[in-house]
Amino acid sequence: MRLDKYLSDMGVGTRSELKKDIRKGGAVVDGEVIKDPGHSVDASSRVVFKGSVIKYEEFVYYMLNKPAGVISASEDDREETVIDLIPEPKRRDLFPVGRLDRDTEGLLLITNDGALSHRLLSPKHHVDKVYYAEVSGILNESDVELFAEGLVLSDGLECMPADLKIISVSEDEYTSKAEITIREGKFHQVKRMFSSVGAEVTYLKRLSMGPLSLDQDLEPGECRRLSADELEALGV
Ligand code: URA
Repeated sequence: MRLDKYLSDMGVGTRSELKKDIRKGGAVVDGEVIKDPGHSVDASSRVVFKGSVIKYEEFVYYMLNKPAGVISASEDDREETVIDLIPEPKRRDLFPVGRLDRDTEGLLLITNDGALSHRLLSPKHHVDKVYYAEVSGILNESDVELFAEGLVLSDGLECMPADLKIISVSEDEYTSKAEITIREGKFHQVKRMFSSVGAEVTYLKRLSMGPLSLDQDLEPGECRRLSADELEALGV
């Protein structure tokens, strides 16, 4: 690939900035200053740009603890997106694997690996997603059974069986806390499921997706690269 593309893929600048910097002598390839932005390089080339070695990675993977108030999109003219929370330098082709509602917090995988995203999101694969939920309303054992049987929502949507674990119930405050595991990802699914048993979600946080669990050390808005073990668990 072209040297300017290699560098822009690695997020160190835009193609036009990079062309200028390369022409000024900012790039060294395999020990030689290269002033041609179209110079051919590949993943085995040793590329140094403005004094830093830039290794080529085809795919990158971040775990983000999504904060409330940010949208799960790659770009938006007006609103802050989850991609805005990834620190520079970052690739320009990143996207979130699935969506969390604006007010939902927790685990979101950000990558440029379309095949992995498809594997995790495809309805055929039934990847478990675990959420912690606080609701207004009293949850009970009959709700646990209804969730386990597969709810039918008021609009006729049939949900797959889901595991509902009631953590606590406050009769005084008329609230409950629970963990729910779903195996699909329909629009507002968790909120709609709770709503169908008369409970309104007041706080929602995703704790895990398939083999990936939210790192408890990540504050809302923080992210980190996936570890080798996590990548292996995901099969990449
Ligand atoms: N279900 C919801 O209702 N909202 C989310 O953000 C995720 C799952």
